[in-house]
Amino acid sequence: MQDQINTIMDETLAAIADSGDLKGLDDIRVAALGKKGAVTGLMKQLGGLDPDARREVGQELNRVKDAVQSAIDARKEELERAELNLRLEVERVDVSLPPRPEALGSVHPVSQVMDEIIAIFCEMGFAVAEGPDIEDDWLNFGALNIPDEHPARQEHDTFYLPASGEEGRPVLRTHTSPVQIRHMLSHQPPLRIIAPGRTYRSDSDMTHTPMFHQVEGLVIDETTHMGHLKGCLRDFVEAFFQVDNVPMRFRPSYFPFTAPSMEIDIGCSFEGGELKIGEGDDWLEILGSGMVHPNVLRHGGIDPDKYQGFAFGMGIDRVAMLKYGIPDLRSFFDADLRWLRHYGFRPLDVPTLYGGLAR
Ligand code: PHE
Repeated sequence: MQDQINTIMDETLAAIADSGDLKGLDDIRVAALGKKGAVTGLMKQLGGLDPDARREVGQELNRVKDAVQSAIDARKEELERAELNLRLEVERVDVSLPPRPEALGSVHPVSQVMDEIIAIFCEMGFAVAEGPDIEDDWLNFGALNIPDEHPARQEHDTFYLPASGEEGRPVLRTHTSPVQIRHMLSHQPPLRIIAPGRTYRSDSDMTHTPMFHQVEGLVIDETTHMGHLKGCLRDFVEAFFQVDNVPMRFRPSYFPFTAPSMEIDIGCSFEGGELKIGEGDDWLEILGSGMVHPNVLRHGGIDPDKYQGFAFGMGIDRVAMLKYGIPDLRSFFDADLRWLRHYGFRPLDVPTLYGGLAR
């Protein structure tokens, strides 16, 4: 029997070392250790031996079983590693190859316009700041001088989230203005930032979607005044729409977080259903703005007797529609590939002021 055991052991180990794939390896395991396997067959014969021999041969067979099993495990690992290496080799991607024009995706108009806005304001010395989409009640409203019972809270059609504990109720931010407070609390003036991002209000029609995009602007220094606000936004509008001397109207308005407050309209015409910016007798509202309210500065940890400045908020989707003649806001978020191919931008044309903002 010992001879038989040795032969099975040698043959099995040789077969394992020779095996070239996982399936073959498993066949070898079944042939040796399976229910009808060679080693299992010898185990069954143990009953016919006398007690001493039974113990000895039994132990020997167990050693064989263990040796075969660990040889299989080791070979399996080798084969798996080889298979992985082969796949890595075959599926190699050369990331340094130039892109294939026919396989390029396109940049969504919202991303494009965000990049254009960032390019313009960065040229003026603004930095980009960010805040989270989920804000607490205080930063979205209270710190911005919007008290609990203020009608602006209802106007904003806020999405409230379940309260998580002691803190104020979390909300999906209804505007990018809370980034003003976050930035004031974490930086010392002078401040000069824009904050583009997603905003949310429970509203849906041709010109409103529950999620939309805004860009906030904030400038704080010792002598920043309304003339700076007007000059800055005029430069922006002319660079963005690429039109000189755009007629602009600064209309008195009201926001709890600015005083005085203004809405800004730009001159345009709608002749023959086509919108032209910078000419004609019609006006389009594009921005809310004003001088930062002293209470807002205080909530941001800034002394209103020493510092002052301006803020503005603009709908990104809205100016994207105006600039690129896109009629329905809801189509922005349909993820329709045909729409994207039509309105999208070439990914390698990064907007810059010197390189031209867009096609
Ligand atoms: N947060 C205002 C809105 O969403 C816009 C705004 C921002 C107005 C900053 C004034 C100053 O309507």
